Amino acid sequence: MGRGIAPAGASRGSNEAIDLRDGGPEQAGLGVNRAISNVNDEIAAALLGLDACDQTLCDTTLTHLDQTAKKERLGGNAIVATSMAVLDAAAKHCGVPVWRQLSGDGVVQMPLPQVQIFGGGVHAAGRTDIQDFLVMPLGAETFDEALCMCADVYRVAGEQMARRGSRMGVADEGGWWPDFESNEQALQILTSSIDEAGYQNGQVMICLDVAASEFGKAGRYRLKLGDHDYSTAEWIDKLSSWVDQYPIVSIEDPVAEDDQDGMRLFTAAMGNRVQVIGDDFLVTNASRIDQAVASGCCNAVLLKPNQVGTLTETYEALRRAKLAKWGTVVSARSGETEDVLITHLAVGWDCGQLKVGSFARSERMAKWNEGLRIERQGWAVRGFAGAGALPVQRRLR
Ligand code: PGA
Ligand code: ZN
Repeated sequence: MGRGIAPAGASRGSNEAIDLRDGGPEQAGLGVNRAISNVNDEIAAALLGLDACDQTLCDTTLTHLDQTAKKERLGGNAIVATSMAVLDAAAKHCGVPVWRQLSGDGVVQMPLPQVQIFGGGVHAAGRTDIQDFLVMPLGAETFDEALCMCADVYRVAGEQMARRGSRMGVADEGGWWPDFESNEQALQILTSSIDEAGYQNGQVMICLDVAASEFGKAGRYRLKLGDHDYSTAEWIDKLSSWVDQYPIVSIEDPVAEDDQDGMRLFTAAMGNRVQVIGDDFLVTNASRIDQAVASGCCNAVLLKPNQVGTLTETYEALRRAKLAKWGTVVSARSGETEDVLITHLAVGWDCGQLKVGSFARSERMAKWNEGLRIERQGWAVRGFAGAGALPVQRRLR
């Protein structure tokens, strides 16, 4: 017996596996009864009798059964939930936690968390252009300590917002609801929150998920806050100036998913100063990663199993990224579930970083807490992956 739950994203890349929804008038067309029927009928018939411990066999059976490039026939949601359930069943059969099932020898490192402090973009009704303002505690020695450091910054950032008279609430991933006059103001308040929380000298650094496909396409970026149009080159200059001014260590999707030239230019200009993560740009797709490596785009990948559809394909994306010596970040979606499997993936696959949202909302806390439980099992955990996955450790000011 194994279970899996498919998450869903709001800022989806156009090359992701398709989330099959029912359409029609009920539940605004968002129902998943067709996907569920596909699991119970076609998928069950194809998988029954296979060995759940052979994840590759089960996953290739799923992809062959579907036969479409984006898994639109059976549904990426039907397929990823099944793939997750297969892994869960295998671990239960072996009587070990999922991370242990994946790591083989049980020697793993804990991932470094990227914790969202302010949510923006399509996760907060467009109140900032930039989607995620996050922190990463490079100075932490343990996962436990890493979470405490991020919790400090999250609390202080909330206090600063309250002092400014903001009406308090949280965005889709639990980060504070943004109430800023500019994207820069969010960066200023985040920087001063890190200071006020008492972290210096690069102990806690900023990560951004620009999610630029939501407000731009190759050659043109239109920011709502500040009401300004940028060419790709101007936009890259803008982001670079933020890296000069603020303690930024990682930038995700700095340009739109179709802006190959922009991604190449950005990586060439900034790739030795910050981690450049491809999310919508790479969609957890091994061949897109190979192309990006060959063309000098990105130096890290965001791994979201439901972007590609199966855990085997997700692992292949991870393997290609590691071969290129890239950073690897396992990530949740904005429409997340209580399933904690991705925390096990980050640990068991020895990914450097884990990004599951903020320090509020139980679907987020469940995943952070699962990391604490894994770390406390202690006997098998070698240490803390720390900043090793980053190309450069930047020092604060
Ligand atoms: P999404 O956001 O799940 O809405 O795509 C997460 C991200 O962009 O990293
Ligand atoms: Zn993203």
